Amino acid sequence: MIVSIVGAGYVGLVTGACLASRGHDVRCVDVSEERVRLIRSGAVPFHEPGLDGLLREVLACGRFSVTTDLSAAMEGSSISVIAVGTPANGEEPDLSFLRAAAEQIGAELRSRRGYHVVAVKSTVAPGTTREIVKDLVQRVSGIHAGEFGLCMNPEFLREGSAVEDFMNPDRIIIGELDQESGRVMEGLYESFDCEKLHVGLEEAELTKYASNSLLSTLISFSNELGALCESTPGADIEKVMQGLHLDHRLNPRQGGVRVSPQILTYLRAGIGFGGSCLPKDVNALRTYGRRRGVPTPVLDAVMTTNARRAEQIVAIVETALGGLAGRTIAVLGLAFKAGTDDLRSSPALALLSLLRARDANVRAYDPIVAREAAAKAGLEHLCEGDLESVLEGADAALLTTADPVFLGADWVRMTSSMRSAILIDGRNALRSVNLPVSVRYYPIGRGGLFLELETVI
Ligand code: NAD
Ligand code: UGA
Repeated sequence: MIVSIVGAGYVGLVTGACLASRGHDVRCVDVSEERVRLIRSGAVPFHEPGLDGLLREVLACGRFSVTTDLSAAMEGSSISVIAVGTPANGEEPDLSFLRAAAEQIGAELRSRRGYHVVAVKSTVAPGTTREIVKDLVQRVSGIHAGEFGLCMNPEFLREGSAVEDFMNPDRIIIGELDQESGRVMEGLYESFDCEKLHVGLEEAELTKYASNSLLSTLISFSNELGALCESTPGADIEKVMQGLHLDHRLNPRQGGVRVSPQILTYLRAGIGFGGSCLPKDVNALRTYGRRRGVPTPVLDAVMTTNARRAEQIVAIVETALGGLAGRTIAVLGLAFKAGTDDLRSSPALALLSLLRARDANVRAYDPIVAREAAAKAGLEHLCEGDLESVLEGADAALLTTADPVFLGADWVRMTSSMRSAILIDGRNALRSVNLPVSVRYYPIGRGGLFLELETVI
């Protein structure tokens, strides 16, 4: 199949490279000339394990190309996948990129013969595909829906494991305007062995929001419990969650062995959720609810708890140090989670600004985030090039991502140059790591906060 993909970001480029590796002829389009030049040369403009190798492979075999010219990309193609950004604009998604993409595709369809499916992969609120994309394509192309196909095909990949997720999906949701549109999408995913669920356009849009809202809800629930443990002497969130996870309904046995579903990793306390999608999507669903006159108190609380979490983490740092003003704090991790360089809505950035607002001196180090990306976020001046440098002379370190570089660090050497070896673990990721006895270790979610190290070196 010849497939055009509009938008070559995290979703568009991963989708394009993966579909090409499954035998389709993929043409990606992006408005950014710099991005197109980079991708054409075989370079991935962001950190995504496995993507550069796959990209070079599909470029070399000629099944993948990238251009700024939508017209050339759509030449002979049966599907145009829209994968442009729908970033947050206040509490609702900014649909300007989506509108532009729909209009551009509509303009191309005006002069084309043959059936063509427009598939929305960008995350959008219920009704957007039908009321905005369909209407724009119809209006600009002069063709009626039905003469062209329309699908809403949400994407569930995670940054950091995007290629693996795309290649081995747990589900493919095909929201279809009519059966013919859905049939063409089936063809696109023929080689993918998973459940393919055909639903309506609005159901597909809602399924995507439901998935991200559930993950966010689990995280906020865990953080609320974490905060309760923090104010309960003798309580430890890790023990409480261990007990919770053992419920056979969350952690069934198969053949006597615990299955431990991955979802349990979202039932752990931390620093709050972030990234380009979870906060944006929960807010978009709340806004949609408001518009429809349907209250969403659960989702409202999910966001309130998430915003509060940063304050609670800063309070732990303050308690550990006995004050923040003038103290130097090394923030370990800038991205919204380990394994990515994405700074969008990163909780680490919220923590940095709260600490600065309390007159702490902050510096940061992230093993994946490049200096240029940090500079774009206005953080260059406080970024250090390695773990040793960021810790040197610091009064405390605050761990914000469970990056393997931090987990496997030589903590004896790393903490030896700190002014005071105080380590606050925002991810509870170092609990089983051997730390030097000189370190005062503060995992989150503990009443009494300071954890006497059981294993010391
Ligand atoms: P992104 O910002 O990384 O990429 C979007 C790309 O689209 C950019 O390169 C931009 O230059 C390009 N673009 C914008 N307008 C264009 C146009 N008219 N023509 C051609 N190119 C255009 O965004 P992303 O993270 O890939 O997210 C895309 C969508 O997918 C969003 O709706 C997001 O919510 C959703 N989503 C993202 C993820 C993720 O992990 N990032 C996962 C699932 C779903
Ligand atoms: C998330 C969803 O997991 C994807 O299914 C979805 O496609 C994507 O959003 C999207 O719509 O963009 P992603 O943002 O890459 O993917 O990251 P996650 O790994 O889900 O992390 C989101 C937040 O949850 C982060 O703040 C992270 O720290 C936290 N998290 C993640 C946990 O608390 N526990 C985990 O096990 C994983």
